[in-house]
Amino acid sequence: MKILVAGGAGYIGSVLAPLLHEHGCQVDVIDLMWFGNHLPRGISATKRDLFSLDATDLAGYDQVIFLAGLSNDPMAEYDPVMNFVQNGALPPYLAFCAQKAGVKRFIYASSCSIYGYTENRLYDEDAPVFCSYPYGISKTVGERGVLQQEQEGFSTIALRQGTVNGHSPRMRFDLIVNTMFKSAMTDGRIVVNNPAIWRPIIDVRDTAKAFVCAVRAEPELSGVYNIAYDNFTVGQVAEEVKKAVEKHTGKAIDIETRNTPDFRNYKVDCAKANTQLHFRPDCAIADIVDSLFAHYADYGDLTKEDYYNIEVFKKIKKQQTENALGAH
Ligand SMILES: NC(=O)c1ccc[n+]([C@@H]2O[C@H](COP(=O)([O-])OP(=O)(O)OC[C@H]3O[C@@H](n4cnc5c(N)ncnc54)[C@H](O)[C@@H]3O)[C@@H](O)[C@H]2O)c1
Repeated sequence: MKILVAGGAGYIGSVLAPLLHEHGCQVDVIDLMWFGNHLPRGISATKRDLFSLDATDLAGYDQVIFLAGLSNDPMAEYDPVMNFVQNGALPPYLAFCAQKAGVKRFIYASSCSIYGYTENRLYDEDAPVFCSYPYGISKTVGERGVLQQEQEGFSTIALRQGTVNGHSPRMRFDLIVNTMFKSAMTDGRIVVNNPAIWRPIIDVRDTAKAFVCAVRAEPELSGVYNIAYDNFTVGQVAEEVKKAVEKHTGKAIDIETRNTPDFRNYKVDCAKANTQLHFRPDCAIADIVDSLFAHYADYGDLTKEDYYNIEVFKKIKKQQTENALGAH
C-alpha cells in the first residue's frame, strides 16, 4: 500500500512513518521541515508546502494521512490567520485533491481539544463541540471539511487525539507529561496550573498504532474516533509523573499547585475506536515516563528552543518577515 503522510516529519509523523514502513507500506512524507527531518533513511521525505500540491501529485497513493498545520494553542494564538488557513482550509483542500486523484482514504489528525470547556462527563463522538479558541475552532473546521467529502470509494476518518506524549525522534517538551518530566528533571518540581481540569492522555506509540488501525479498517468505514489511553485530571498526571520520576532518580519531586483558570476541560469516551477500529492502547503514564528516561541521555538541554513549537515558530515567522522586507 502506498501512503502519503502530509506533515509527517513532525512529532507524531516521526513515529508513525517508520511504523507504517514496518507494516509493509510504501511511505512518502511531504513536509515543510519546520523542525528538521528526523525520519529514518528508508522513508522518502520531500521539503514542500502542501498548498503547492494538486490532484496530479496525489495520483497513485492509496491513502493520505494529514498531520500538518499548527499543532498547539500558542502557535494558533501567535498567528491566528495562518492558523485558520493551515488548520481550517488545508485539510479539506488536500482531501479534495485526494478524492479527485482516486485516493481511497483520507485520515485526518483531529484533536479532542475541539470539545472545549465541558461539564465533567464523558464526551463521545456524538457530543456537541463548543470551543471558542483559535486552535480548537480551526481543528473543528478542518475536521468537518474533510469528513463531508466522504463518498462511495472515498473514505474519510478523523482521529480526535488526546494530548500525545512520550518519546519521538522529533522531540517536543511542550506536551503535558513531557513538560512535567522536564520540570521534574531540571527543577525538582512540577508546577500544576489547575489540578482539577481533565485531559485525555495518549502515548505517541499508541497514537501511531491508532493511525495504523485506521489505515487497515474496512474500506467502507468513515467517521470520527476519540483516541486516548485514559482521562486524567492535571493533578493526577502530576502525581503519576512525580511517582515515576522518583522511582527512576531516587530523588523527591515537589508539586507546586496554582489555581489558574483554563479554557480547556474535557474527558472523552474511546469505546467507538475500540469496537470499530479495534484500537487498544498499551501505554500508561508510567510507560510514557519510562520512554522519556530511556532517551534522556540523548536530549541534552531539555529547555532548548528546538523542543518548543512556539519558539521555533516565532523564529520562522521572524525570518519570513526579514526575508520579505529584504525583498523590497
Ligand atoms: N501532539 C499532540 O498532542 C496532538 C494532539 C491532537 C492533535 N494533534 C494534531 O496532530 C497533528 C500532528 O501533530 P504533531 O505534534 O506531530 O505536530 P508537529 O508540529 O510536530 O508537526 C507538524 C508538521 O507539519 C509540518 N507542516 C505544517 N504546515 C505545513 C505545510 N503547509 N506543508 C507541509 N508541511 C507542513 C511542519 O513542518 C511539521 O513538521 C497536527 O495536525 C496536530 O494539530 C496533535
